[in-house]
Amino acid sequence: MQHSYPIKVKEVRQETQDCVSIAFDIPAELKELFDYKPGQYINLIKTLDGQELHRSYSLCSSPDESEWRVAIKLLNGGIFSTWANKVLKSGEILDLMPPNGKFTTDISPSKSYLFIAVGSGITPCISLIKSILLESDSRIILIYGSKSIDQIIFLEELLGLKNKYMERLALYFVLSRESMEEELFYGRISAEKITAFNGKIFDPKLLDEVFICGPEEMIFQTKDALVSTGVPETIIKFELFGTHGLPIPKTEVIEGVGEKVKVQLKADGRTIQFDMSKGMDNILDAALKNNARLPYACKGGVCCTCKAKLIKGEVVLLRNYGLEPEEIDAGYILTCQAIPKTDTIQVDFDQ
Ligand SMILES: Cc1cc2nc3c(=O)[nH]c(=O)nc-3n(C[C@H](O)[C@H](O)[C@H](O)COP(=O)(O)OP(=O)(O)OC[C@H]3O[C@@H](n4cnc5c(N)ncnc54)[C@H](O)[C@@H]3O)c2cc1C
Ligand code: FES
Repeated sequence: MQHSYPIKVKEVRQETQDCVSIAFDIPAELKELFDYKPGQYINLIKTLDGQELHRSYSLCSSPDESEWRVAIKLLNGGIFSTWANKVLKSGEILDLMPPNGKFTTDISPSKSYLFIAVGSGITPCISLIKSILLESDSRIILIYGSKSIDQIIFLEELLGLKNKYMERLALYFVLSRESMEEELFYGRISAEKITAFNGKIFDPKLLDEVFICGPEEMIFQTKDALVSTGVPETIIKFELFGTHGLPIPKTEVIEGVGEKVKVQLKADGRTIQFDMSKGMDNILDAALKNNARLPYACKGGVCCTCKAKLIKGEVVLLRNYGLEPEEIDAGYILTCQAIPKTDTIQVDFDQ
């Protein structure tokens, strides 16, 4: 099972009016465990007002910088992001889980990459962009949407990279609340914009890999638009920051809803047993209500932190944006999305 470690905050830096970046002091003995690939995220755990909060944040640093830094955008009404932006100071201790995630790539010598980011979606993208520019001769196009110039996170760093890698990095800022000289760069990044950029900013035939990160709706619209311009779906990777805006997909009907289900759960070598109701709660929430200590973060079927192996029984998975088909075939489930279908369920977090 994945574990967390108490880590000291080294620096809190104001990036824009409503975004801070936070660097962590990873102790020498944990550096290997905390090794990461560009584009990966870490899970932070913090108890605020008696509530234990688990949140994922993408690393905006690159492994080449020997730094562990995340950027947290203030979300209206958001508990953790408000605390991080308004209260958090260097010296604070947070519980961190080692880096994880599939929004990354094995950098090869010379490729052509397209990045599309909106708002805080720039965080994993800038990590990848820095690593790719430093470690290869590849070319990168970044299309980055923000509300206005003062809200562009990492503006100076991006301009610095452009200065250094003039021939290999093309930057296009798209602003939705500040008029731009060119109509093409004014508005939100949408399917229409992608169609308009096709041929002017990128050539679908020349792209080797595409990375998209931002609000859910933008990701799916953009991805579909790219596919219709001829970009193969197989070269497109995206990172969701949550599934709040997405409807729950229709699933099969579960029979005997409300009937008792006996759950046996193994985590960290210990086995616990509890009862839950069929077809109602997910296994993770039911286990947490029974005081189990389990790893989780997004609770939205994205981060895979709650992954476990289903040893016995059957479940319906509501959402899955993280598990690969091979993992599903091998019996893995996302417990935050797994609704029991059978009277007995056995899951193992240690496999
Ligand atoms: C893999 C991954 C990587 C992430 N990386 C980053 C990152 O680099 N930077 C960053 O700022 N955030 C990132 N997030 C999002 C982050 O984990 C939190 O969800 C976000 O900061 C909100 O937490 P909160 O406690 O402030 O809001 P909460 O108190 O959890 O939510 C407040 C309200 O906002 C809604 N809400 C929560 N999150 C979102 C969202 N993303 N979009 C729309 N509505 C939402 C909730 O439904 C609720 O109504 C990432 C998430 C994932 C899964
Ligand atoms: S907690 Fe993120 S997928 Fe379940």
